[in-house]
Amino acid sequence: MKPLLKWAGGKHKLAATIAEAFDGPSKGTWVEPFLGSGAVFLHGRAEGHIVGEAILADLNPKLIAFHTAIRDAVDDVLAEVEALPKEDWRDRYYAVREDFNNGPWYGPAHAARLLWLNRAGFNGLYRENRQGRYNVPRGSYKTVRIPAEDHLRAVAKALEGTELIAGGFEEVMRRAGRGDQVYCDPPYVPLNRSADFTAYCNGGFDMAAQRDLALEAMRAAFRGATVVLSNHDLPVVREQLYRSSEGFVIKARPAVGRSISRSVVSRKPIHEVIARVGPLRHVA
Ligand SMILES: C[S@@+](CC[C@H](N)C(=O)[O-])C[C@H]1O[C@@H](n2cnc3c(N)ncnc32)[C@H](O)[C@@H]1O
Repeated sequence: MKPLLKWAGGKHKLAATIAEAFDGPSKGTWVEPFLGSGAVFLHGRAEGHIVGEAILADLNPKLIAFHTAIRDAVDDVLAEVEALPKEDWRDRYYAVREDFNNGPWYGPAHAARLLWLNRAGFNGLYRENRQGRYNVPRGSYKTVRIPAEDHLRAVAKALEGTELIAGGFEEVMRRAGRGDQVYCDPPYVPLNRSADFTAYCNGGFDMAAQRDLALEAMRAAFRGATVVLSNHDLPVVREQLYRSSEGFVIKARPAVGRSISRSVVSRKPIHEVIARVGPLRHVA
């Protein structure tokens, strides 16, 4: 099942490879602290990898409010989507963006506007200015393609019974324990300055945050959880963040279909790492 939103770093295409890194279905609680569009969770639910409870979280409260409205009030979201511009969408894009920014930032109307802007805005980007206002310009599409009613209902069903939390990864990861599975997809260590797409929400995700995340992953692993993490395939990631001496195992290094080089000649696919840690036992 595809996610409803396009999201920077979305994992729809890698979801099966990520599921394989866990060595078997999630029997305990599935914990996902960097939810984004929810691509990995939705794939896992659809394929029977995630059968138990799920705690889904993200630092972006407007995104969590979106998933919450889909889970709790999909009929109302559908009605609000229906009321948004269709043929005249180009003329009304900035008015919808203004309504979105004026809030409220929860409920069915908020969710419908976020879905609409995600499909009508430039490249499906989510970007806010320093005042926290969504500032993506209008996209250059012929029509705005909103996911079908069946799709919204299927996602609502998948989210049924999940706990959705707006907050930082630390709080959520501390709830993972024995038999639980945790998937972490943080903003990546940048390949270079020009590829620094870490400003998803207000505030970046620096190397100190990357280290804190690796530490929280180890702590969860010592409590008996299995933690899988994604990041760029860089020496600093393999040798300093996810070290084999600390129990991390590199499970896959998939190529992803994008390139940061402007020159066609030097264009090479970028690789990611999928690392796993845990469950770990204290050495006596
Ligand atoms: C690479 S995206 C996740 C993409 C997701 N796996 C998907 O398939 O759509 C990273 C997410 O981390 C969130 N984020 C950034 N800093 C965070 C933090 N400190 N704690 C939790 N979430 C954070 C961002 O809002 C963003 O949605």
